[in-house]
Amino acid sequence: MDATGSKDDNRAYYDAFSHGYERYRGDNDPGGYHEMLDELESEFVERWGRGRDVLEVGCGTGLVLSRIASFARSARGIDLSPGMLEKARGRGLDVVEGSATDLPFSDASFDVACSFKVLAHVPEVGTALREMTRVVRPGGIVIAEFYNPYSLRAAIKRFGPARPIADGADESHVYTRYDSPFSIRDIAPSDTELVDSRGVRIVTPTAHLMRTPMAARLFRFAERRLCDSPLRVFGGFWIAALRKKASA
Ligand SMILES: C[S@@+](CC[C@H](N)C(=O)[O-])C[C@H]1O[C@@H](n2cnc3c(N)ncnc32)[C@H](O)[C@@H]1O
Repeated sequence: MDATGSKDDNRAYYDAFSHGYERYRGDNDPGGYHEMLDELESEFVERWGRGRDVLEVGCGTGLVLSRIASFARSARGIDLSPGMLEKARGRGLDVVEGSATDLPFSDASFDVACSFKVLAHVPEVGTALREMTRVVRPGGIVIAEFYNPYSLRAAIKRFGPARPIADGADESHVYTRYDSPFSIRDIAPSDTELVDSRGVRIVTPTAHLMRTPMAARLFRFAERRLCDSPLRVFGGFWIAALRKKASA
């Protein structure tokens, strides 16, 4: 499978992945690695999106969006992959097919636009961030998650043994980029300012290790304590909250 990051390649990769995507996620692995990620990500959205209109870009099967739907006034999702979207629709979520780089929504439609584990697979990340900013109201928030090169996760991916991430998915078959917390100003739209951030997976070495209940409890405890600490800049997943300037 090609890994150019084009819409066709990403759609083909995630359509194939959609069948095994939840094997170690959601109800199939309560208390596990992916649940921890989804929890820390959706909690950060709640900080800005409780009682507001929220869009998730690249919502996939809806694991994070279903959490968002529990506290937002409205929760909508878009994704490229019909295979992933079918599962989100099965959860009763309000989702549409579309691309992060060309969002099918009018300007200023949402209070918050967020994206998790998606922008790292989009070569035109600047265009995607501009689109997310366009669809939020002035004063609204863009929550964008990046894969951080300055993290244990990145080091293990680089130097550790190659491991398939799930049935039907080998990460080397999808385009992946890394953007550090220190380069956020280079890619964030000029009409936004960084107002908050969170680091996820700071000390957890591998998802695999969290399949032992004791280790899972230990890493969950550590990640929760560290996610908003100064060490957050070393999160394997670094989440930025960007406020759209009111005068924009
Ligand atoms: C790793 S999944 C994450 C799904 C969800 N955000 C979550 O956290 O469970 C990445 C998702 O991004 C979607 N995606 C990849 N490139 C995209 C693009 N250019 N526009 C919209 N969605 C895209 C894929 O189809 C896939 O569903």
